[in-house]
Amino acid sequence: MKTKIALITGGSRGLGKNMALHLAENGHDVIITYHTNKEAAFEVVATIEKLGLKAAALQLNVNQISSLNQFIVDVTTVLKEKWHTATFDFLINNAGVGATIPYLDATEADFDRLMNIHFKSVYFLTQKALPIMNDNGRIINISSGTTRFCNPGYSIYASMKGAIETFTRYVAKEVGPRGITANVIAPGPIETDFNNAAIRSNSQLKERLSTMTALGRVGEANDIGGIVAFLCSNEGYWINGQRIEASGGISL
Ligand SMILES: NC(=O)c1ccc[n+]([C@@H]2O[C@H](COP(=O)([O-])OP(=O)(O)OC[C@H]3O[C@@H](n4cnc5c(N)ncnc54)[C@H](OP(=O)(O)O)[C@@H]3O)[C@@H](O)[C@H]2O)c1
Repeated sequence: MKTKIALITGGSRGLGKNMALHLAENGHDVIITYHTNKEAAFEVVATIEKLGLKAAALQLNVNQISSLNQFIVDVTTVLKEKWHTATFDFLINNAGVGATIPYLDATEADFDRLMNIHFKSVYFLTQKALPIMNDNGRIINISSGTTRFCNPGYSIYASMKGAIETFTRYVAKEVGPRGITANVIAPGPIETDFNNAAIRSNSQLKERLSTMTALGRVGEANDIGGIVAFLCSNEGYWINGQRIEASGGISL
């Protein structure tokens, strides 16, 4: 496959970083975003450049919907300066945060923040990015296993991820005529910095989640990046409009 350009939100660490590295291993150039961890993001860029590929890092705050227009301008500028092109191929909506908020304690501010980060920004960033995406590209959204099984305290988070799953099917249908596919990956629990490193910092939680999983452990970032790279490959093209759960078989 000829080198394509991927745009991954939240590529400074965790799943997004691993997706960026897998895509680069498959020969693709990558633009990642970071929110606050600029240094970590540029380390990812340096790693990809060492593979002989092009990479860039841009700042993005998906909690600030009004910044999305400027972000598209920033993407367009970097595409022009670094790639001498106006378009890219793969959009991976990955950036996100975790929050454990019992339903009865949830506030409107909590709801609006998680809605912006996990749903509204994905909905509108995708809409704003489509005019600068090449035909036959890919949209990959990141949901969560918690849309299928319940994790108390995740009512807002999982509801927004559920909305992303519905949105993914609609966007697949509406952009299909351009040859662009849209799929949503729903990871189970993965040991990253997510939700204040909830899994890494709590051995009892990690053990409980491991025993709930058919393969007997929680996930690692490296369990997810290759799935994204596969969906972006020629071989993955016929998968469209699907929710793909990647959890090692949790709560079967
Ligand atoms: N880990 C899990 O158990 C798990 C399970 C299911 C689904 N997911 C989903 O997978 C995705 C990635 O999670 P992760 O585990 O990789 O989390 P992570 O290790 O905490 O990384 C989060 C990434 O999102 C970026 N980010 C955070 N807040 C942002 C904001 N307001 N605007 C823009 N970017 C922001 C971070 O940038 P900075 O580094 O600059 O802060 C970082 O790159 C999320 O959508 C999450 O909901 C995770």
